[in-house]
Amino acid sequence: MAQCTAIIDIGSNSMRMAVVQKTSRFAFHIIHEVKSSVRLSEAAYTNSGHLQKSAMDRTASAVGEFLLIARSFKARKILCVATSALRDAPNASEFISRIRQEHSLNIKVIDGPREAYLGGMACANLLPPMEAISVDVGGGSSEFAHISKGKVIQMFSLNIGTVRLKELFMDQGDVEGASRYIDKALDALPFESIQTLIGVGGTFRALTRALMKKEDYPLKKLHGYTTTKEIFNAFGDAVMDASPKKLKSLNIKPDRFDTIKPGTLILQRIAMRLQVKTLICSGVGVREGVYLSDLLRNASDCFPSNYNPSVRYLLDTYATFSNHGIECASLSKRIFELIHVHLDLPIHYRTELVIAAKLLPIGLGIRYYAYQKHSHYLALNALDYGLSHAQIALIAHLLLFKKGNTSSDLVPKNGYGSLLPDAKTIDAIYTILWLSHILLAQRNSASSLALSFAGGLLTVEGKELYLAREQLKNLPLPPHLSIQLRS
Ligand code: LMR
Ligand code: MG
Repeated sequence: MAQCTAIIDIGSNSMRMAVVQKTSRFAFHIIHEVKSSVRLSEAAYTNSGHLQKSAMDRTASAVGEFLLIARSFKARKILCVATSALRDAPNASEFISRIRQEHSLNIKVIDGPREAYLGGMACANLLPPMEAISVDVGGGSSEFAHISKGKVIQMFSLNIGTVRLKELFMDQGDVEGASRYIDKALDALPFESIQTLIGVGGTFRALTRALMKKEDYPLKKLHGYTTTKEIFNAFGDAVMDASPKKLKSLNIKPDRFDTIKPGTLILQRIAMRLQVKTLICSGVGVREGVYLSDLLRNASDCFPSNYNPSVRYLLDTYATFSNHGIECASLSKRIFELIHVHLDLPIHYRTELVIAAKLLPIGLGIRYYAYQKHSHYLALNALDYGLSHAQIALIAHLLLFKKGNTSSDLVPKNGYGSLLPDAKTIDAIYTILWLSHILLAQRNSASSLALSFAGGLLTVEGKELYLAREQLKNLPLPPHLSIQLRS
């Protein structure tokens, strides 16, 4: 059985565990997640950071049960980190030794910059490449990481957190005081302004989940959801003004009612201070950072170039015979490069085309009949990392095939269609993808075919093209493109 690792993050508000299964050298997927709203830092901020007995008792019980879960998956490694609550607490060692004695678990208390690094490094590796600042708003502190060219280049940590502000200000109804406290802390931020903010942590995910429900967003994916500062601020204002009953109708979950306002306030002040224009939700954070820093320890904390862990996981798990997909990827790429200018296709679509080609056979892992539909479902639901929602929707849509139809014929009336490019574009990419599949019907290697293109005519030369010629009839071609097969 492939090996599993459990990663526990003891936050100041929630404690979380992810159980991750590795499917090959750098590929993995989450097989279990559990969260407990233990609120370890409860009543600590008015007691000079001292952890209270009841909070420690709750957390210890939850740790015990988390470990039972980890063992049920036969986790070979259990990595446990703790953040602000334990950093601040004069009596932290009491809790740490109790957990060591009762559960034989070593808790590693990480400092603010390390926490910022781990969250930022997870975003740098598992979101599409971008220049951004990631902000992890926790219960006790907030961590900032400046991401550039796939690396974290600067970290910073501030003692502004949801539980801290709730207990010090909001419980007394002092929103003004909370704002002043946040702004004063933000004066120390070493960053100027940034176009894109990546939101990490429970508060940002809760706001995103609620916003997606409100918008009836077509994908069920928090990770990679992108919005504008205007939409985010308007929703944030609605949250700040809401009564508990109203929070419910805004789709905020009850366990967030008392921290969502301080959390929203922190995020709004940060977004304003950094003059952010776009906000992206990260579904990954400290736990994934801890996992990746173990997985990628001999690779400078980053995946090899052009490596996508979600694609690899899908191939590892579902494509028992992946060779045809690899050959289709290589042939599609050659065809694309010959004809994309003629078809008016921007070069960047080569990425989605090649990934879709590699994923062609994954549906076979479910059932041969209607395997294209299964490939589509798997891609739409299990592609998470390193791709935008628009890219995921396009890749998944390209995998749908129906004889005699164009790709635009197959767009669903509701749902992810709004994330796709125009009909002409999807039809052109689809043609290249399924043409490569048809040309390789005899399962030769892509290198056995010679290609040339002139004046709208693509000529394909190869020894065995009998099946291809027959199957080509199933593929509608875009206007101004014809294909000639020569044996
Ligand atoms: C933390 O303190 O880091 C987390 O508990 C954040 C949260 O809001 O759940
Ligand atoms: Mg945290």
